[in-house]
Formats: sequence, C-alpha cells, structure tokens
Amino acid sequence: MALITILNGPNLNLLGKREPHIYGHDTLEHVEALCTSRAEALGHEIRFLQSNAEHQLIDWIHEARDNSAAIVINPAAYTHTSIALRDALSAFDGPVAEIHISNVHAREEFRHHSYISAIADTVICGAGIAGYGFAIEAVSAKI
Ligand code: DQA
Repeated sequence: MALITILNGPNLNLLGKREPHIYGHDTLEHVEALCTSRAEALGHEIRFLQSNAEHQLIDWIHEARDNSAAIVINPAAYTHTSIALRDALSAFDGPVAEIHISNVHAREEFRHHSYISAIADTVICGAGIAGYGFAIEAVSAKI
C-alpha cells in the first residue's frame, strides 16, 4: 500500500459550477470519491487536496517527498505559468501524472503550452474527470 498525493490547482474548488460546458457538472467531491475508489481498488491510499495558492501547492509537493510514492496533479492555470511548480515537481523522486479535465490543445493558444508536461511521467487531458482515474492507474503501474 502506498500513498498517492492528488493536487488540484486554482478554481477547481468551483468544479461543477464553473463553465460546466467545458468542465462538466461533477464537483471536486465527486472527483475525490472517484480517486478514492480507484486508488483503493489498486491497494493504495490518497491524500486529496485543492488550493488556489501557488505556494500552498508547492508546500504540499515538498511534503509528498517524505510521505508519498506518487503525485497526480491538475495544476489548472498554473500549468501555463508556473516554473516554480515545475521545479518543485522535478525535486520529487516518484512518478508524476499531469491531468487536465478538458482538452487544453483544442482550446485557446495560451493553454497549449505546459511548464509541467516535460517533467511529468504521464500527461492526460480531455478525458473529463475520468482522467484522474487513468492518472492513478498510470502512477500505480510505476510505483
Ligand atoms: C484545466 C485546464 C487549464 O487550462 C485551466 O486553467 C483549468 C483547468 C483542466 O482541468 O482542463 O483551470 O487544468
């Protein structure tokens, strides 16, 4: 049994209410339930977190160095802006999966570049919230 840290970036607390035509009607609580059941089926535990603050996400990545075997992260808008998040994830030794609910490549051009993808082991986008389950399976296979 391993601990998988699952991190959610800014505005994902509004999932289900925010632009449902893009992100769907499921809430972050639904995502957490999906992640819990997928991780348990694979024999793992999760630590499921969301913050709107870049420094908080970085602190949680640092904590994961000591307590987690893998990280699944939806960095949300910080995907496209944050070298600091990338550096923190680079300092994590275990597998990292980047996940986006929407297909960022089919959206505005500024969403096409990710600072995270080049250092992630797995990148999933456009699968809706099911992508979180796929990301857990991907990191689980590498633990
Ligand atoms: C997102 C895509 C990002 O471009 C956006 O800023 C988000 C959510 C997604 O899950 O599709 O907040 O990461």
